[in-house]
Amino acid sequence: MCGIFGIVTNNQEISVGKVVFDGIKRLEYRGYDSCGIVSLCNSKLYVKKEAGKIDEIYKNVKLDEVPDGTKLALAHTRWATHGTPTKQNSHPHLDCLNKIAVVHNGIIDNFMELRNELSSTGHTFNSDTDTEVIPHLIEDFMKKGFNLKVATINALKKCKGAYAIAVCQVDNPDTIIVARKESPLIIGIEEGKTTYCSSDIPAFLPLTRKCYIMEDNELAVLKAGEVNFFDLKNDNELIKKKIQNIEWNIDAAEKGGYEHFMLKEIYEEPNALRLTMKISEQLLSKFANALLSADNIYITAAGTSYHAALAGKFIITRFLGKHIQDIECSEFETQLKGSLQNNSVIIAISQSGETIDTIEAIRWAKKAKSVKILTITNVVGSSITRYSDHVIVTNAGPEIGVAATKTYSTQVLALALIAVSIAKIRKIISDEDIIKYYDALTGIPNIIDKFLEKNVDLIKYIVNNLEKNMNYFFLARGISIATAKEGGLKLKEVACRFIEGYSAASAKHGPISLVREGFPIIFIAPPDETYNRLVGNVMEFKSRGGRIISVVVESDVKITKLSDITIRIPQPADKYHNLFSPITFMPALQLLAYYAALAHDLDPDKPLNLSKTVTVH
Ligand code: AGP
Repeated sequence: MCGIFGIVTNNQEISVGKVVFDGIKRLEYRGYDSCGIVSLCNSKLYVKKEAGKIDEIYKNVKLDEVPDGTKLALAHTRWATHGTPTKQNSHPHLDCLNKIAVVHNGIIDNFMELRNELSSTGHTFNSDTDTEVIPHLIEDFMKKGFNLKVATINALKKCKGAYAIAVCQVDNPDTIIVARKESPLIIGIEEGKTTYCSSDIPAFLPLTRKCYIMEDNELAVLKAGEVNFFDLKNDNELIKKKIQNIEWNIDAAEKGGYEHFMLKEIYEEPNALRLTMKISEQLLSKFANALLSADNIYITAAGTSYHAALAGKFIITRFLGKHIQDIECSEFETQLKGSLQNNSVIIAISQSGETIDTIEAIRWAKKAKSVKILTITNVVGSSITRYSDHVIVTNAGPEIGVAATKTYSTQVLALALIAVSIAKIRKIISDEDIIKYYDALTGIPNIIDKFLEKNVDLIKYIVNNLEKNMNYFFLARGISIATAKEGGLKLKEVACRFIEGYSAASAKHGPISLVREGFPIIFIAPPDETYNRLVGNVMEFKSRGGRIISVVVESDVKITKLSDITIRIPQPADKYHNLFSPITFMPALQLLAYYAALAHDLDPDKPLNLSKTVTVH
């Protein structure tokens, strides 16, 4: 949560104000409670900050206008944790003398203690944030004669918690100091000219493809077109890091004619899936063999990634012949303390690779026992990969929309590929069947393409038809419970509706009491082994006045007859395709959520109170 961006340059051609503004705008998905920019010019800091989304702020505060000759600027977009989303609590935060500015992503756990200590020695605070202690600590150390770098190191030694910070100071107009612990930080560089720091790569991708990915406990001194890294754990020793060349196409991180990232990313699903199909056989069999030789298997994640875990668990257990326990990452340690055994395997899923709860779950497990971590992420080099034994990168390309769409489908696909690889190794199904499962997987992108081509009007019609409803059920059985939960989550987060994604069988044990005439129930109904029982559930809800919207395959008859509206997925009604319906059925529900958000005048890319990357507990 929160995004930070910085630039230091000697390139006269560059408009620092525009670059820093564009950079922070690209990070807005990380938080949009407030935004601030500080520029350093003529030994003075110029701060502009305000609460609200960047475009709203820009109407009154021209964030991109900085004094002529500015060579250095920092920016921040905030997802509030400590202190309400106000101008005062917006970053950057300054010291008492207005000489030091800090932007920060993370949480300083012991800030209260530090703040009391600093206040007692005469420091004045202007915000309720944890961050504000950092510039004041640096101020203290600089007063004692330390230079900016050493003062920052000393200040960080006093801070407990997580941070990616960028610091500037008026007497060091050519230097930005950055440091990282548990929050992402990347350094982009145009050698000899310009250096950038950013919470992610796409923010500086239009400017340079060359970057360094910072690791925990590293500090870097950035000058124009030059960077030096230091190891905070090892006497602040100078370290050599490998420069990376980013292959992504910048178009992937921009809207490319779509009104919103969410819509663009739904339409990118077929290609993202095609690319994810290319995961090497070798890597898949590493995952498969690790699962086959494990005594216990857990699968863990948060939010949408957890729903992918539920679907993937179902697919894998079909072929694995062993139980996989799913546990939400935030519950992992609490639930497994005392029972986690050696020779367990944990599948961890995180599109960002930065979700702190997921990282902490696997870190705890690694420390507690001899376990193997198999990770599925979309971000090469993300924090989670450091704690993993094997990593699958899903190749969905950058996902900017806060609501996960294409990363969900590719996560489920990666899990499905592992499942088929297990079936192959175990030889529990015929070669012919293996080919049919592979063919079904290879055919998924075309099914989604076909669906997206023909169904947008139907989805808009359904949205208009349901417009006034505030509450919905998404019901299903078997593997589709994961689909119901994820479809429900999408509508919840972007359209602010209350949705219960639930088992259709369990719904009659309580939730059914909510049903009145016209109450909308969306049934996810692929023709798998649960279908006939689901027909019964549809009737139970219909007979109580429920308005039935069902998602079915094209050839469906029975549930279609019982439904008020059907969404038809153009896929064959066989067991091979049914097993992968969490992927093929999902774009319909994602589109439904997207158009519902528009119908309610909500910005689907910036759902209320959310952030793309959740780096707090
Ligand atoms: C997805 O739409 C959500 N915004 C959220 O639930 C997300 O899936 C969750 O925070 C996990 O993120 P991760 O995959 O990056 O770990």
